[in-house]
Amino acid sequence: MKKMWSGRFRQPLNPAFERWQRSFPFDCRLLKCELEASAAHARALGRCGLLGPQELSALLAGLEEIGRQVSARRELLEDADAEDIHHYVEKRLALIVGDLAYKLHSGRSRNEQIATDLRLYTRSACDEISAAVCSLIRAFVARAEEAGDAAMPAYTHMQRAEPVLVAHWLLAYVEMLWRDLERIEQCRQRANRCPLGTSAVAGASLPLDRERMARELGFPSITANSVDAVSDRDFVLDFVNALSLMAVHLSRWAEEMLLFSTVEYGLLQLPEAYSTGSSALPQKMNGDLLELTRAKAGRIIGHATALLVATKGLPLAYNKDLQETQEPLFDAAETIISLLPLLAGWMNAVEFNFERMHAAAESGCINALAAANYLARKGVPFRIAHEHIGKAVSLAVERCCELEHLELGDLQAIDSHFDADFYECLKLERVLGMHDVPGGTAPERVRQAIAAARGRLTLIDEEAHAHA
Ligand code: ARG
Repeated sequence: MKKMWSGRFRQPLNPAFERWQRSFPFDCRLLKCELEASAAHARALGRCGLLGPQELSALLAGLEEIGRQVSARRELLEDADAEDIHHYVEKRLALIVGDLAYKLHSGRSRNEQIATDLRLYTRSACDEISAAVCSLIRAFVARAEEAGDAAMPAYTHMQRAEPVLVAHWLLAYVEMLWRDLERIEQCRQRANRCPLGTSAVAGASLPLDRERMARELGFPSITANSVDAVSDRDFVLDFVNALSLMAVHLSRWAEEMLLFSTVEYGLLQLPEAYSTGSSALPQKMNGDLLELTRAKAGRIIGHATALLVATKGLPLAYNKDLQETQEPLFDAAETIISLLPLLAGWMNAVEFNFERMHAAAESGCINALAAANYLARKGVPFRIAHEHIGKAVSLAVERCCELEHLELGDLQAIDSHFDADFYECLKLERVLGMHDVPGGTAPERVRQAIAAARGRLTLIDEEAHAHA
C-alpha cells in the first residue's frame, strides 16, 4: 500500500506536485514524538478492544524497533517515498509487522497526529531552551560577580549619562533573560495539552480514553474541543514570538558588544576563539558571532511573521496551510538552541578593559547630577541647581577639564552655595553610592541583586534535580 489515501483517485498525481507537497524532508525530525504518540494510541485501541493483546504487543514492539533501526542507521530517514512522518512510520511498521500496521490508523487522523507531535516537539524545545538560557544567565552573573566594584559609563541617547557598576550593566541583560525564560515557561504550559483522540475534526469515533493517552505522554490535560485541537497552532506562534523577543534581546546585546569592542569605545576585547579574521586586511579581527547573532534576530522575526500571516485567514479546521507552520517552528527553535551555548562561551571568554571603563566613568562631567544634588542639599531648588551646574559644565568644557578641576572661586561666582566639601561628593564612589534604592547601582544594592540572581539559579537547579 503506497499511499495513505489512494482509494478514491482514478488518476495518478503529477509527480512534481507529489514530491513538492511532502513534509517528510522536514517533519522527519518528529520521529520520536510520532512513535511515542502512536504507542499511546495503540494502547488506547487495545483498551477499547480494537486490537487483541498480541496485536498490541506486536505493534508496540514494531514502533520501538523503528526507533532502534533509525538510531542505528540515520540514512533510513532518507525515504524518498514518504509523504510525511505519519506515512513514514506506517510504511516502516508494515515492513516489520505486515498488514497489522494498517490497524494502527483506526480511530485516528493525521490531523490530530501532527498537532500532537508539534506540541511534543515544542514542549521539549522549551525545556532545551530554558536550560540554555539558564546557562547564559549563569555566565552573565559570574562575570558580574567577578567585576566587583568596577565602574563604567551608562549611556542614554548613546551619550555618557551616569556611572554605573559594570555588574549592574551586566545584570540588566540578566533581567531580560529572566523574562525570556518566564515567557518560554508560559509557552510550555499552554502547549502542554494533548489533542490525541480528536481525530480528523469531530472527535474520535472509537471510545478512546483521552485522559489516559494524555497521561502516558506526560500531558497534564487534554484539549477541550476537537475542531480547535486540529486547527490550533497558537502554541507555535506563541513560542516563536517568545523566541523572536529573546532574539531581539540577544541582538541588542550583540550590537552593544560590537560597539564596545571598537577602538572608538575600547571597553572590551573580542575573544579570539569566537572571532574571525579578514582575508584582505591583516590587522582585522571581526566579531562574527555577534554580527550573526544580530542577524539571527531578523531570521526569527521573519519566522514569527510568516506564521502570523500563514494562519491569519484560515477557516476552521485543519487546512494543509498548517503544514507551512512546521519549518518556521523548527528553524526558530534550532537557531536559538544552537546560538545560546555559543553566547555563554563568548560571555565567559570576553575580556573587559576595566581601566578604560573606569576612566570613562570619571570623565565628560558624568558626575554633574551629583553636583546638582549637592547644591540641592544646600537648599537650592533643583531646577536652579541644574542651571548652575550646567554653567559649571560649560566652563569645564571650555577649559577642557572636569567639574572637580574648577577652582572654588570660579564655582562661587556661579552660585554662592559652593563650598570646599563640594569636591568630595564628585568622587566616583560617592556618585555610585548615591543611587541607593532597590534596583539602583549603589554597590551594596548590586551585591544584593547578584545574590538574588544566584538564589534564583540555585532554586532552578534544585528543581531540576528534584525532577531528574
Ligand atoms: N503533513 C501534514 C501537516 O504537516 C500532516 C497532516 C495531514 N493531514 C491531512 N489531512 N492531509 O500538516
